[in-house]
Amino acid sequence: MKYIQVTKFGGPEVLTLLETQTPTPGDGMLLVEVKAAGVNYADIMARSGFYPQIPVAPFSPGFEIAGVVKSVGNGVDGFKEGDSVAAITMGGGGYATHILIPAAATIPLPPGLDPGVVAAVLVQGLTAYMLLEEAKVKAGDAVLISAAAGGLGSIAVQLAKAKGAKVIGLASKSKFNTVKQLGADLVVDYDDAQWPTSVREAVGSQGLQVYLDSIGDLSTEAFPLLGKLGQWIVFGARSASGKALPHESLAAMIEENITLRGYNLGASLQHIPRALGDLFKFVADGTLKIEITKYPLEDAAKVHTLFEGRKTTGKVVLVP
Ligand SMILES: NC(=O)c1ccc[n+]([C@@H]2O[C@H](COP(=O)([O-])OP(=O)(O)OC[C@H]3O[C@@H](n4cnc5c(N)ncnc54)[C@H](OP(=O)(O)O)[C@@H]3O)[C@@H](O)[C@H]2O)c1
Repeated sequence: MKYIQVTKFGGPEVLTLLETQTPTPGDGMLLVEVKAAGVNYADIMARSGFYPQIPVAPFSPGFEIAGVVKSVGNGVDGFKEGDSVAAITMGGGGYATHILIPAAATIPLPPGLDPGVVAAVLVQGLTAYMLLEEAKVKAGDAVLISAAAGGLGSIAVQLAKAKGAKVIGLASKSKFNTVKQLGADLVVDYDDAQWPTSVREAVGSQGLQVYLDSIGDLSTEAFPLLGKLGQWIVFGARSASGKALPHESLAAMIEENITLRGYNLGASLQHIPRALGDLFKFVADGTLKIEITKYPLEDAAKVHTLFEGRKTTGKVVLVP
């Protein structure tokens, strides 16, 4: 089998293609042939040494796969060779032609689904779905979504629109068309000093009900845009600002009953079967359209360069 290894924490150049003997599944395990390995921002963090779940290198990156069962270990019920499956692989290992997965953590799939779409709805799709559910987004709410053209953001925009929300996307200017086509009511550019004014004009005195924030800048200009009972949910920390919450924001937070909270998909594992069922239904009925860009496994370093260089939109997958 072939697999990508992060030889040591660092830039994309540390992603190295290696070869080893394809393993045999032990008790309770499945050997899965990977058809699509999803690329997530978490992979960039893990490769760089900033992902708490991966404290040491070398390791094999890739936290989600869609594939086909190649062989079944002893004591496994419910799976056979040829079954289509998916998995979120918390320990990595997804960037590979094959991966061993505990049967208990393997998600059975109906045949015929595009593996790229499956990968998209795993980490990014589930997180977008759960964020909107946790925030109790409803028709008429104004929702600001950061990185709205990205893997998670592009799904969040569509799901929020399907709930009847007014959606405002934050994105690089070159991605405005993408975000508009996803259904956003307004797209604004982080680098345009006027963006908070544009958002304020769009939402009026109602303000924002929800800010889905994968940037994690506590001094964000999004804060004063939140209305009464507004929710600011931080689920990513890409900002290098390191600034504290300004004191005036703290005062407004108390005055306006605003909630600032974090979110991690790990807290929602019990909801995955229901949420995945809904996401596949949305894909089938056209509510959710997934843009997929596929690259060969060997191009992992190039893909990471594009991904962290903010050059990608939608879902990016590696195909072994
Ligand atoms: N808490 C959880 O459970 C959970 C689960 C999944 C993902 N996440 C988080 O959700 C966020 C989105 O993840 P994703 O996998 O869908 O990635 P993604 O949003 O597709 O990441 C790439 C895009 O992010 C935008 N971006 C904004 N600031 C950036 C920066 N400083 N560096 C690089 N890109 C930046 C860029 O779009 P623009 O050019 O338009 O800005 C870029 O194209 C990440 O922060 C990730 O850590 C959290």
